[in-house]
Amino acid sequence: MSALRDRVVLITGAGSGLGRAMALAFSRAGAIVVAADLDETAAQRVVGEIEAEAGRGLALALDVSQAESVAHAVATTVAAWGRLEILVNNAGICPLTPFPEISRAEWEHVLAVNLTGVFLCAQAAFPHLCACGHGRIINIASLAGRTGGVTVGLHYVASKGGVISLTKALARLLAPWHGTANCIAPGPIETPLTAAWPDENRELLRRQIPLGRLGRPEEVAAAALYLASDAAAFVTGATLDVNGGIAML
Ligand SMILES: NC(=O)c1ccc[n+]([C@@H]2O[C@H](COP(=O)([O-])OP(=O)(O)OC[C@H]3O[C@@H](n4cnc5c(N)ncnc54)[C@H](O)[C@@H]3O)[C@@H](O)[C@H]2O)c1
Repeated sequence: MSALRDRVVLITGAGSGLGRAMALAFSRAGAIVVAADLDETAAQRVVGEIEAEAGRGLALALDVSQAESVAHAVATTVAAWGRLEILVNNAGICPLTPFPEISRAEWEHVLAVNLTGVFLCAQAAFPHLCACGHGRIINIASLAGRTGGVTVGLHYVASKGGVISLTKALARLLAPWHGTANCIAPGPIETPLTAAWPDENRELLRRQIPLGRLGRPEEVAAAALYLASDAAAFVTGATLDVNGGIAML
């Protein structure tokens, strides 16, 4: 219940879907949750839910692709709570644009949010994660970054593959300070992101999942809680698949 008592966690993209589920799960485990999102109103709604359950949280506006915005989020977190112990890089976008139609600007935007955003947040948080002696980075990658993807854009696939490699490098850098960095690679999960997909895309995926359904955000949150916990202190540089068996890697 209180496996993360008083740990300070910054979750990006916390206003929706997986980020919201992780924010609630971390709060229920005793953590103090900084919920940061491009959509500040959505982040505030999630912190409202946390406070309604007597949890502690703070909502922040954040664009992970902008270094100044990231620096502000980390500084505000540390000013409010005195430390930052867990960083969850969850914010992401997933256009379905077919390969021939991806413009250079769209390619760069997806990379800026999904990959550069992880780099910027990790770099800004790093001194605090080292200082606490038990820092955690949890990056939300994707099944698509492991397998090449089927229905999603090639820029998304490339960005998530990059997140998996970046996580391994971060794991090496954090290790001397007894910190860990890991990825979760979710398969298709029921969130507003996948709800916006054409029905046939979701059905195509569902039929390929041995467990016969899309995942629930709470099932990704449970994996993140494990990676954040002391129980996972010897797990680093890993990619944890939460995908109903659609790919067994
Ligand atoms: N849902 C799935 O099936 C699935 C599968 C694999 C990986 N993922 C990954 O999980 C993460 C969350 O996905 P979701 O399904 O919850 O999506 P979602 O669209 O429901 O939520 C994403 C959140 O990120 C925020 N965001 C977008 N750009 C941002 C930016 N520049 N800075 C800060 N916040 C920003 C959005 O405002 C939104 O609140 C993403 O990285 C996604 O790629 C999702």
